[in-house]
This record gives sequence, structure tokens and C-alpha cells, in this order.
Amino acid sequence: MRTQVVIVGGGPSGLLLSQLLLKSGIESIVLERKTKDYVLSRIRAGILEQGFVNLMREAGVSERMDAEGFNHDGTLIAAENATFRIDFVKHTGTPVMVYGQTEVTRDLYAAREAAGGKIVYETENVIIHDAKTDAPYVTFTTGGQAQRIDCDYVAGCDGFHGVSRRTIPTDVRREYEKVYPFGWLGILSETPPVDDELIYASSERGFALCSMRNASLSRYYVQCPLTDKVEDWSDQAFWDELKRRIPDEAADKLITGPSIEKSIAPLRSFVTEPMQWGRLFLCGDAAHIVPPTGAKGLNTAASDIHYLYHALRDHYLDKSDEGIARYSAKALARVWKAERFSWWMTTLLHHFPDQTEFDLKMQQADIAFLRDNEAAQKAMAENYVGLPY
Ligand code: APR
Ligand code: PHB
Repeated sequence: MRTQVVIVGGGPSGLLLSQLLLKSGIESIVLERKTKDYVLSRIRAGILEQGFVNLMREAGVSERMDAEGFNHDGTLIAAENATFRIDFVKHTGTPVMVYGQTEVTRDLYAAREAAGGKIVYETENVIIHDAKTDAPYVTFTTGGQAQRIDCDYVAGCDGFHGVSRRTIPTDVRREYEKVYPFGWLGILSETPPVDDELIYASSERGFALCSMRNASLSRYYVQCPLTDKVEDWSDQAFWDELKRRIPDEAADKLITGPSIEKSIAPLRSFVTEPMQWGRLFLCGDAAHIVPPTGAKGLNTAASDIHYLYHALRDHYLDKSDEGIARYSAKALARVWKAERFSWWMTTLLHHFPDQTEFDLKMQQADIAFLRDNEAAQKAMAENYVGLPY
């Protein structure tokens, strides 16, 4: 088999890239280790930057998102004794869109299938060969059959645990990591959201977040020790803890109900450099991870896809390889800013087990500064709605 671009990984990054390439007449094949149902069972954040929304529109996959997603013009920050609002539209002219990542992925699969795009599911033992030459190829097995696809380029969109990053030799690859000493316990419940906007709450007992998917589906999180197990948290224990961490006014009107999903996620910041090795490009979680505070995971994957899509377009349509040569540098420049913002929001709002009295005072002063200072609010709003590509 032969194609122009082999895309390893059928998560949102890989699917969005394949759909954009298709719009420009560039052929690709997506290789996914799991089944479609498995990929669609993963629950992730639900905040889309305008840049991501625009890419979905450009890919022709925005119909349901435009109909069902809703814009948020700001967000609430709650700390001891103070709740204040960051007004995105006032400070940047741009809202964010609330639309679940699972729905994004579902729409991308539907579009891919409608267009007759090639996706090979349940691939095993994917190996990327000769990425440093002009003739790379990818081998794998599926249904017990060994396969080989020759291609011009390989896009590594296979997430943190994929093979693409590990294809880059260790003497070339540099990794940067910070593991946080806590996780997020999240639940999804078929209850109306407690507020029209998200509430990021910092409290002595730890961080909490009130989020949503739509008017009758809510997503809530509480910071928890990494040693906690989901089984140890009854729904009642979750709701009780959430109420202790959010402002009284919100706790009083919170509508609780049975959880339909409950899970614990660890928090990590991670970046690998470079994001390109010969004809192999890394995109999304394959190259970087952010802690979920600020919802930058999918949005940072989107800027990689934007840069790579344009680089490949310039190569095939305009015979220019400048974008290809500059992919890693361009992508990383934006990635590091998203890493900084996610790290800052995490540090600002969480309770750290080894926090000194001084650290706590700094955190309180940082929150007070944000509450009282328009320039700080503007800086936060600019980062939250997404820095330019
Ligand atoms: N071969 C083929 N597919 C693989 C392999 C492999 N060796 N390893 C992993 N995959 C698949 C996974 O099964 C998964 O479906 O690659 C896909 C990667 O998808 P994600 O982990 O979702 O990563 P990405 O598409 O970059 O999405 C960006 O934004 O909010 C964040 O972490 C969140 O998923 C999210 C991400
Ligand atoms: C979510 O809705 O799951 C969500 C929203 C905002 C975040 C993180 C997660 O910062």
C-alpha cells in the first residue's frame, strides 16, 4: 500500500489532520490501536478555543458543534472569601465554546466515514521505518495480517503512550516533565450545571471545578491525593466534598444526582523536543501533556495540527518546504506558552501537600492581584481563550 501521509493514532489530533488534508486533496491513512467505540468512551475536557473551532469549520466538521455548542463569555474564580469573574469578551473580544471532546471525536469519525477516509482499527506493533530518509514506511499487523504502507510523511498523533515519540532516538530527544502531587477526581452527572459559567475554586481543602457539557449534563472535579481510589469515593462523599470547596451560594443551589462516570486522573506537565525527526512529525499528546487546569490539552494539539496541515499543504500545493523545516520550532513556541499557563493556573489554585505558610501567602496574593488588576485579568483571558497561532 502507498499513501501520502500515514497518521498514527485516531484520537482528535489524527482525525482532524486527516480531515483537513482531505479538504486539500492530500491522501492519508489513519492507524488506530483501539476500536472506534473504545476511543469514543474516553471522557476529556470540554472547552474549545476559537482557533480549534475555526479548524473544525475549515475541515467541514462543524455542523453539530455550531448547533449544539455554546459560547462562554467569561469564567468565575472562587477563593476563600472572594468570587470574581474574568470577562473573556471584554478583554479579548472572544468567547470560548463549551462542547465535549468526545463529541468532537464522534463528529470527526462521522465525517471521516462519510468521506470514505481510510482508518485501520486495532493495529498492533506499529513501527515507523526510515523516517530520516526520503522514503519512510510504516509496518503493523491487523487481524493477524502483516501490512506495510509506504508514504511521504508520518504524523505521530498517537498520544502519550504511542510509538511515534519513542521512534526519535534518545540522543536527539529531550524531555521535560513535572508531575504534580495530586490528581483530579471527576464525575459526570445528568444534572443541570450549578452556574451558567465554569467555577474554578481554590479552597483550604483543595481545588474544585464546576464544569458542564450542556444544560442537563454537568462535569465536576475535586483535587484528591494520588493514593485515592475511585471505589473509595461514593457519589455522596464526592458531592459533600465539592460543596465544602465551592462558594456557599453555589453549594446551596447545587443539584446533585447519581454519577454516570467517575474517574481519577493524575496531573502532569510534559514536553518533548524536537517535535520533528526527518519525515516524522509529532502532534498533540504524543509530544506534550498539560495538567487539565485551563483545558489546554486538545487546544494545544489543535495548533500543532494547524502548523502541520499548513506545512503539508505548502509542500504539496505550493512546492514550498519552509513550513516543514520550521514545524518543530513553530509548534513548540506555542506549546511552551500553553504549558506555562496550565502550570500557572494549577499552581495558583491547588493545595500542595508540602506548601509552606509563605507559599500559601504567595498563592493568596497572586489570586488577590488577579481579582484586583485589570491587566492581570486581560493576560489570563488572552491565555484562556487561546494565544494566536
Ligand atoms: N498505534 C496506533 N494508535 C495508537 C498507538 C499505536 N502504537 N498508540 C496510541 N494510539 C492511539 C490511541 O489509542 C488514541 O486513540 O492514538 C490515539 C491518541 O489519542 P489521544 O491520546 O486522544 O491524543 P490526541 O489525539 O493528541 O488528543 C489530544 O487533548 O485534552 C487532551 O489528552 C487529551 O486526548 C486529548 C488530547
Ligand atoms: C471539563 O469540562 O472537563 C473541563 C473544563 C475546564 C477545565 C478542565 C476540564 O479546565
